[in-house]
This record gives sequence, structure tokens and C-alpha cells, in this order.
Amino acid sequence: MKTEILEPTPENIRKCAQSIAAGETVAFPTETVYGLGADALQPQAVQKIFTVKGRPSDNPLIVHVHSFAQIDELATDISPAARKLAERFMPGPITLLLKKRNTVPDCVTAGLPTVGVRMPAHAVCRAFLKACDRPVAAPSANTSGLPSPTRAEHVFSDLNGKIAYILNGGACAVGVESTIVDMSGAAPRLLRAGGIAKEEIESVCGCKAETATGGNVALCPGMKYKHYAPRADVLFSAYYGDMANSICARYDALRSANKRPVILCLRKNAVCYGRRRTFDMGVDYEDYARNLFAALRRADDERFDTVLAEGVPSEGIGAAIINRLIKSSGGHII
Ligand code: TXA
Ligand code: MG
Repeated sequence: MKTEILEPTPENIRKCAQSIAAGETVAFPTETVYGLGADALQPQAVQKIFTVKGRPSDNPLIVHVHSFAQIDELATDISPAARKLAERFMPGPITLLLKKRNTVPDCVTAGLPTVGVRMPAHAVCRAFLKACDRPVAAPSANTSGLPSPTRAEHVFSDLNGKIAYILNGGACAVGVESTIVDMSGAAPRLLRAGGIAKEEIESVCGCKAETATGGNVALCPGMKYKHYAPRADVLFSAYYGDMANSICARYDALRSANKRPVILCLRKNAVCYGRRRTFDMGVDYEDYARNLFAALRRADDERFDTVLAEGVPSEGIGAAIINRLIKSSGGHII
């Protein structure tokens, strides 16, 4: 199959929506990462997502919508707190787990009683979802295990020949996936750190959000799989004042062993690394998140064999960066 990257003209958006209606998969942009979509209400179409990605079928999919009315068609028993979160953060980088209605096929939710719903803010995505006017099930549009795609070219590199269309929406503004909050129980539970900070969710709910830890795998099935990993080894630093010194020491040891490491660092820290190879992650942690997956892919493209990532504070978007780095490093901390 020939894979085309389509510019987001009204005509191309219609073409992508028709492809979804015909039961095919289409890759589309969101503000977090690119998604690989299919009509959520056609089980055979949803099945294709798992085949194309090489995704285990026990890993449920998030359903993407453009309106609150669509959410009410997918979910029931929506609590006042869940509605508050939806009103405050949708459209945006948040996914709410809600009690599912029977209309949602089991292959979407992997047989779970909840459905993940998300209303992206990306303008091209919203136009696409409106044109589909059907809920669109979509995981990130990478091959399972690889870093999530934050540009149309990343999707092309993973899925060339496996899908017909990639709708181009440019570089993703957030760069890490949505925050997943389970709102199906009495209290909010945070299942994945992401584009909306835990602190913001707690302030809207007016209570603490429980955090599901790595041991609690059944809660968010996807989190048990290896994730976000480039070919290169990833090592990431704890965040402390002197971290540049330990990163330099590790870099030099790797060089002595004939390895090709590269350091991911904030622009202001580049001076600490002298002539060592670095990738500029931007001026703040929002930039770091936005650039993270692209940097991991670039390390592979430029044949670095080890990525040494600077640590970040655990507040705000930092929690999502730490979570992705833990996954891509397999927990290897400097
Ligand atoms: O930002 C995002 O959320 C992106 C864009 C494309 O929307 N999507 C995304 O999908 O990251 P995916 O499939 O790569 O990650 C979704 C995660 C998986 O770990 C999955 O197990 C979990 O959400 N998930 C989905 N539905 C769930 C449910 N009903 N219960 C528990 N976990 C669920
Ligand atoms: Mg994913």
C-alpha cells in the first residue's frame, strides 16, 4: 500500500473522513502525539489498528470526539467531578475513563467496563473529527514499543506501506500523551501523567488524585508494556543541582568504551557539557516535553547508541517527562 502524507486542506480532511467511514485506519495529528484512528463503532475497523501497530489486543484504545454530546453517547453515570474536569480541560490533553455504554465495542476497551474519552484541541484534528462525525478510536500512531510520533514524518517512518493516509498537522505542541484520569470511581485516579498536570486536576476536583503506581498494572493495561524506546540505550538522570557533573562523567566513560553518547539538555545547561554532543531540548520543561520523542528518534537516525537525558523536577509537565524517560530507559537512572 502506498502511504501518502496529506496536507490539511478541506478536501483532504474529507478524504480522510471517508476512509474512516469505509472502515480503514488513518493517522491524524493531535496536540499531544499523532493518533492512528478507526471508526470506534466498527469492530473490524478497530481490529486493523491492532494489526497495523503490532499492538497486543488486551490494551484498550482511547476514543476521540469533537463534542460533549458524543461523550454522552459513549459513557454513562458521569459524575459531577468528571463533568467539571471535562468542562475545564476539554478540548485539551486529557483522557477521562468513564463507565462505558453497550454501544462501545469490547475490542475498543479490551473488555473493560470503562471507556477512555478524549477531545483533542488541535484545529486540524477537530476538523477531521467533525468530518468523521463518528467517535474515532486511536492509540498513538507509532509501531508498538517505539517513541510516540510527534510529526507526520515519524508516523511515515513507522507505518509506511501499512496505511493509506497520514493527515499532516505539523509538529505536536504538547509532545507527550494526554493525562489519563479514571473518573469511574468515587475519587479521581491518575493512571498516566501527561499534558495536564496532576496539580491542576486536583485543584478542579477539590481533592487529591490517587496515583496508580507501576505495580498496579491492571488499571491501565498499556503501561505494562515496553514503551517509547529507541534502539539507543536511554539513561536518565535524577534531578539535582550537580547532575551535569555525573552526566559528564558517564558520557566520558562511554566515550572511553568507544560508545557514541548524546546528552539531552536544556539550552541554558549546554555550557556545562563543553564539547560533548548535546541535543537542545529548548528553554523550559514544556519545550523538553515537546521535543522529547523527536530527540529519541533523532538519536537513532544519527546513530548515537546511548542517550543521556537530564533530569527534571517532578511537578507540572515534569511528571510526564519523568514517566516517559523511566519507560524508555527501562528504569536506568544515572
Ligand atoms: O494523547 C493521547 O492520549 C494519544 C492521542 C493519540 O490521543 N493517545 C494515546 O493512546 O496515547 P495510547 O493507546 O498510545 O495510550 C493509551 C493508554 C494505554 O496505556 C491504554 O492501556 C490506556 O490508555 N487505556 C485506554 N483505555 C483504557 C481503559 N478503559 N482503562 C484503562 N486504561 C485505558
Ligand atoms: Mg502509545
